[in-house]
Amino acid sequence: MRNKIVAGNWKMNNTLEQGVTLASEIVNMVANELTDDVKMVLCTPYIHLSSVSKIIGDAEKISLGAQNCNDNLKGAYTGEISVDMLKSVGVEYVILGHSERREYYGESNEFLAGKVNTVIEAGLTPIFCCGETLETRERGAHFDFVTNQLTESLFHLSVENFSKIVIAYEPIWAIGTGVTASKEQAQEMHEKLRAHIAKKYGTEIADGTSILYGGSCNPKNAADLFAQKDIDGGLIGGASLKSRDFVDIGKSY
Ligand code: PGA
Repeated sequence: MRNKIVAGNWKMNNTLEQGVTLASEIVNMVANELTDDVKMVLCTPYIHLSSVSKIIGDAEKISLGAQNCNDNLKGAYTGEISVDMLKSVGVEYVILGHSERREYYGESNEFLAGKVNTVIEAGLTPIFCCGETLETRERGAHFDFVTNQLTESLFHLSVENFSKIVIAYEPIWAIGTGVTASKEQAQEMHEKLRAHIAKKYGTEIADGTSILYGGSCNPKNAADLFAQKDIDGGLIGGASLKSRDFVDIGKSY
């Protein structure tokens, strides 16, 4: 049985006050409404983490996540945040390799391989993002492109460490655009990724790896997507900023 995960990526949105309100609403709704065995993850901006951690408290179905971290453990890296700092405020998940970080901050597959190591060695769970541009898909190169992202950033890991990874397939053309991949397109890619993992690590590990879909996922399309056999949940941007929408997505299995 794979873990079902719905992670909200708040990106660079919300003041602390707004974030606290949003997190409180989500925690209450989840406690009252979420009956399925789903893990909801709140990936907030760094400055929200400590406050949101207290709001989550020991709520069973909600965990705290960060959107990034530094690949070094400590030292003279002005403006950066380490895995130990994240752990000290209760973070359990770290989004790595989001396409916005790849595009705006030049994070390559090779560089991300190092960050993956840092996060796993710290005992945190990476939510590793992959996904192609529209141009790559239209050239018919999307399967090779996305499987190669896994190969170059993850396939150096031991079986034991790979089994700690969560993957999020996020076609770049679907992020924040309102254009969602169809359930067939998403399922097709998830199946390819699982087969790629199976070739390297065996079917047992591949079958146990949670692969989330991201890209304009909302309460209307989530149920169709999550019903696909290789889609284990979602990484949610825009819709995670509205408590009602985010929790409704969590209830879409
Ligand atoms: P979106 O973002 O849901 O707003 O498309 C998804 C993401 O970037 O993780």
